[in-house]
Amino acid sequence: MSAALCSFILTTTLYGSTVLSAILSRPTNVHLTSNNMNLVLRWSPPEGASKSLVYTAEYNTTVIPYTVGCVNISTCECDFTSLRTSLQPSIVEYGKYTGRVQAHEGLKSSPWVESNHMTLDKDTIIGSPNVSLLSNGATIEVSIKDPVFAVSTLRNVYISATYNISYWKDSQKDQVKYISNIQQNRVVLSDLNPRTKYCVQVQINTESNSRPSHPSRVTCENTTSEEAPWMAAVLTAVIMAAAVALVCVLAVFRKSICQLFCPKDVLPQHFKEYLLESPDSTIYLAMQNSHPPEEIYHQISVIADNRTMEEGCPLGKREDPQWGD
Ligand SMILES: *[C@@H]1O[C@H](CO)[C@@H](O)[C@H](O)[C@H]1NC(C)=O
Ligand SMILES: *[C@@H]1O[C@H](CO)[C@@H](O)[C@H](O)[C@H]1NC(C)=O
Ligand SMILES: *[C@@H]1O[C@H](CO)[C@@H](O)[C@H](O)[C@H]1NC(C)=O
Ligand SMILES: *[C@@H]1O[C@H](CO)[C@@H](O)[C@H](O)[C@H]1NC(C)=O
Repeated sequence: MSAALCSFILTTTLYGSTVLSAILSRPTNVHLTSNNMNLVLRWSPPEGASKSLVYTAEYNTTVIPYTVGCVNISTCECDFTSLRTSLQPSIVEYGKYTGRVQAHEGLKSSPWVESNHMTLDKDTIIGSPNVSLLSNGATIEVSIKDPVFAVSTLRNVYISATYNISYWKDSQKDQVKYISNIQQNRVVLSDLNPRTKYCVQVQINTESNSRPSHPSRVTCENTTSEEAPWMAAVLTAVIMAAAVALVCVLAVFRKSICQLFCPKDVLPQHFKEYLLESPDSTIYLAMQNSHPPEEIYHQISVIADNRTMEEGCPLGKREDPQWGD
């Protein structure tokens, strides 16, 4: 009797669980990833999944319960970092996260599948820095740009991040030199040979993240001849001397140059000042209000040979009558 009941219950339970799993199988390979402080959940579709399958993805933290990230998406990844504009709590650099995903088809749903845990600053994969080189004589200046983070910046998250710079002669790839524990993003490599091609690669190390960053692209540059800065200095000095000489010549021969280029009849200084004076100056007003000054005439008798005057100065005849008196 009891055995029959037991077997009945067992059968129903087994049947029930078979029915449940037959509804929709779960997504596989569910894993939470982070590159440059973003947070992305990725998964694979269940075996033999149909094309109409959609997914819902969620994430939680130690303090926030599961929150919806993506709903009814057909792709197999959900970027939680790009949801910051909506009502979701924003991703924080020191947060510990878990993701989960569920597949849907019509009214059927699969069970949730949870991902690995991830602490963003400890587990994110730091991308490669951007390196540019500038050669100056037998030295090369290395400028390093940090990778751009989805949340915060590299220097904010990893305050004590350092650069590990490796450099080598392009012709001797096996003899690599290192400068490590560098915090400033500009470094001058000075123990180089002139007129030689060097290659540089940089990696970022942090204390909290056990993995160093992806190494930068290998960048190469030729050093120039050692004399180059000296030559440049001489050239600058020569140009400066020429400029000074030109200024001196201009100063010494200013008058003759001026006579050459400027009009001969320069207005006297006091006349210029008078012309430039504003019309409401007191002198101007006084002149406007005063009567024209009495003109003083002196009797002059011009005794001249009429004939020669007319020939020599024809305008003489047209002078004002007062002159003719
Ligand atoms: C998210 O929730 C699950 C259980 O619901 C829990 O096991 C996990 O620890 C939580 N994640 C974090 C980061 O606390
Ligand atoms: C997601 O799809 C289900 C049906 O598969 C539907 O009931 C639900 O409303 C959809 N949700 C959103 C937010 O579109
Ligand atoms: C690296 O820097 C150069 C110049 O500043 C820029 O053109 C290039 O896009 C940068 N590359 C990356 C991957 O940031
Ligand atoms: C710097 O990088 C080189 C190789 O990339 C490695 O051998 C060396 O140990 C690193 N130094 C530090 C201090 O990380």
